[in-house]
Order: sequence, then structure tokens, then C-alpha cells
Amino acid sequence: MSRALATSDPSQGSRPVLQALPADLDPTRLPAHVAVIMDGNGRWARRRNLPRVMGHREGVEALKRTLRLCSDWGIGALTAYAFSTENWSRPGEEVSFLMALFERVLARELEGLEREQVRIRFFGDLQQLPTGLQELIASAEARTANNVGIHFNVCTNYGGRRELVRAARRLADQVARGELDPAAIDEAAFAAELHTAGESDPDLLIRTSGEQRISNFLLWQLAYAELHVTDVLWPDFDAQSLTLALQDYQGRQRRFGGVDPVSP
Ligand code: FPP
Repeated sequence: MSRALATSDPSQGSRPVLQALPADLDPTRLPAHVAVIMDGNGRWARRRNLPRVMGHREGVEALKRTLRLCSDWGIGALTAYAFSTENWSRPGEEVSFLMALFERVLARELEGLEREQVRIRFFGDLQQLPTGLQELIASAEARTANNVGIHFNVCTNYGGRRELVRAARRLADQVARGELDPAAIDEAAFAAELHTAGESDPDLLIRTSGEQRISNFLLWQLAYAELHVTDVLWPDFDAQSLTLALQDYQGRQRRFGGVDPVSP
């Protein structure tokens, strides 16, 4: 991201200054993959008597901040819910603003993402997006495909149920063509047909603005994620909010359906 991931230190030319991991976080027990439901942009704006779209604009800054922190702190992947399949039902003006915002931000930040070795991918039904945005997405994905830094996944026109149906249909097509034995369909085969194929499942889901819902986000992939809900509105999400989420995560016993190793 331009001026984004790399916070320039004038004494060091354009070399990025990494933000140190807070001392109270254990660097060996960080989540490898964090997912975020960025909620509360509208309320953030309303509280300031601003139009809702100003909340989305500020939300972009929070997303850039979070990506930079995750990258600096050694988190391998960040997946953000930017636009759901249900969000088309918002007022036309807001939808148009969001589409234009995605396009503008992507065009502006692509060079910085490349420089910072971010690998960006978009998950969702992309054919329904404006053509200009689709083209930018294709170019951003291609230009960053071989980057070795954080995986940044943006869910755009994404719906968990739609993704599951799409996966089922793709497997059914393979069966119909005689390329796949139905008995060979296992969890790995199913996961390979999801948008997230090749990505590890999120270890931690953060939802801002206090709502305690999954909202059709990553229904398969969140099976064993730890959930952190905060009242902070997305545009206000900062290093302290992320630290609290990670502390919460590090305090959890993850059992994946098994038993606590110290229980009888
Ligand atoms: C939810 O808040 C937020 C959204 C539906 C949009 C999120 C999008 C961004 C933060 C921009 C991301 C940009 C890029 C380039 C990926 P809300 O509007 O539902 O807030 P409310 O619940 O307070 O009304």
C-alpha cells in the first residue's frame, strides 16, 4: 500500500520501519490467519453527523492499518469481509460509492502492495462487479501472485452459502464428466473447490461493533476459529484493538473437538 505497509523513516530512506510486536504478546503463539468482519462504519459516521460513506472511507484506513500491523507482527494471512452478497440491497448510492472506493483504493495502493510483498486475492462472485474493478482485481492478483509476504484476501460480493453451493456444483460437474468418483469426495476435495483453496483456515475471527453473528462469512473455514467480538467500531480499530484481540486469542485453549491435555 502506498505510504501504507511501509511507514517511511527519513533516516533510512524508503526502508520500511516495522512496528514491534507488543511485549505482552507471545510471538510463538500468534494466529497464522486472522479474519475480520469490518462492521460499524455507518454508526461511526452517524455519531459524527457525517454521511455513512465517510465511515467506509475511514474504514479503508483501518484496514490498511490492520494489514500493516499483521504483516509487521508476522501473521501469515488476513482475510477481510469487504462486501457481502447481501450488501447489494443497500441504497444504490452507497453501493456505487463502495464499488468506486474499492477501485480507487486498489489502483492507488497496488504499487505499495507489490513493493511490500503482499499477495492479494479477492474471494467471491467477481463477475457481478463493475468491469473496471474486475480488471483491476485480475491485474492486482497477477502482479502479486508470487509475492512472499502476508496473504491479503478481500471478500467482495462474497457469501459463505454461495461459496459452498459453488463448490458442490464444481464437484458435481467433475463427477458428471466422469473425472471424479463420488466416493473420493472428502473434506480436502471439498475445500479445494472453495475460493480459499490453498489457504489455511482462519485461527481467529474478529468482529467489530459488538454484533455477535457470523453473517454468512467463511462458513466452512471458520469451523474451529476462535471468535473475538469487540464494541470498537471498525474505523476506530487500531493497534490496541488488535493487541486485545490477540491477547484474547492467546488466552484460549484450542481443543479442535478433543479434550484439554490436562483434563482427566
Ligand atoms: C460494514 O459497516 C462495512 C462494509 C459493508 C464495508 C466495508 C468496506 C471497507 C472498510 C472498505 C474496504 C476497502 C477495500 C479496498 C477492500 P456498516 O456499513 O454495516 O456499518 P453499520 O453497521 O454501522 O451501518
